[in-house]
Amino acid sequence: MTIIIDTDPGIDDAIAILYALRHPAQDVVALTTVAGNIGLSVTTFNAGRIAALAGVPTPVHAGAAAPLDKEASPELGIHGNDGLGGVHFPEPLSPPASQDAVAAMIEILAAHPPKTVDLFCLGPLTNLALLLKRAPESAQRIRRVIAMGGAVDEPGNVGPKAEFNIAHDPHAAAAVLAANLPVTLIPLDATRQFRADVGYITALRETGAECAKASADLIDAYFATTDGAESRPLHDPCVPLLARHPELFTLETRLLDVDLATGALVDGPHPIKVAMGVDADGLRAALLKGLSC
Ligand code: BDR
Ligand code: CA
Repeated sequence: MTIIIDTDPGIDDAIAILYALRHPAQDVVALTTVAGNIGLSVTTFNAGRIAALAGVPTPVHAGAAAPLDKEASPELGIHGNDGLGGVHFPEPLSPPASQDAVAAMIEILAAHPPKTVDLFCLGPLTNLALLLKRAPESAQRIRRVIAMGGAVDEPGNVGPKAEFNIAHDPHAAAAVLAANLPVTLIPLDATRQFRADVGYITALRETGAECAKASADLIDAYFATTDGAESRPLHDPCVPLLARHPELFTLETRLLDVDLATGALVDGPHPIKVAMGVDADGLRAALLKGLSC
């Protein structure tokens, strides 16, 4: 499985990336970054730090510094001023690549047979929308896009119906939904069912593995930003987990669009595969195992 991870790390992005980088069957050929949880220079630096912790020299390509048609609005309250909740990570193994995210996507997609590269989207969809604009034929070579984003029947997390990744760049999300790509969306409806509690943090630490211990620290930091919560949702790890364990998700096809004013998902003309349910125990076990090696 050849994979590009497009990301805005981000506490839960970091856990998702550690899982994917350590998974023997997931060949992550590039990390591309986008402004989202925090500004682009920090998400790019963080992607390099996360790869260094995983001990993998995955190239990092910086992408869009701002949404297509609005101001960036970072999520410092949850992810902290460094985007990773103040958790210690090593310095990147090398500086970011000089090639930008979209150019890297085009080159990787051209170098592989059509429909053999997956794109995992863990942040706002700005880079994918730019790829669709710059090289639509290249985007059509993607085997599948798995993206965390949106709220279908659930309330949103940045508005009554709006979820952060879609609302941060609604124009990009609308372009992606309209592009007739093989997109699977994992909205809050599914990710809120996959939660980590204190017992899970302990189990991660007890593995003694670096990636699991860093993930425990990240989830601890995630707890620090809420009062009295007994568990926290693991949004972005659902993306690589869906790729490896589709049997742990329930998928439906919904007709969707994006409301550009609010960033909410609304009824629309685009048939999109959406994860609406999860086997949470199965996901917790799979993530623990993946982070333990
Ligand atoms: C999404 O928003 C970000 O804050 C998280 O990293 C995740 O990708 C959840 O709404
Ligand atoms: Ca994210």
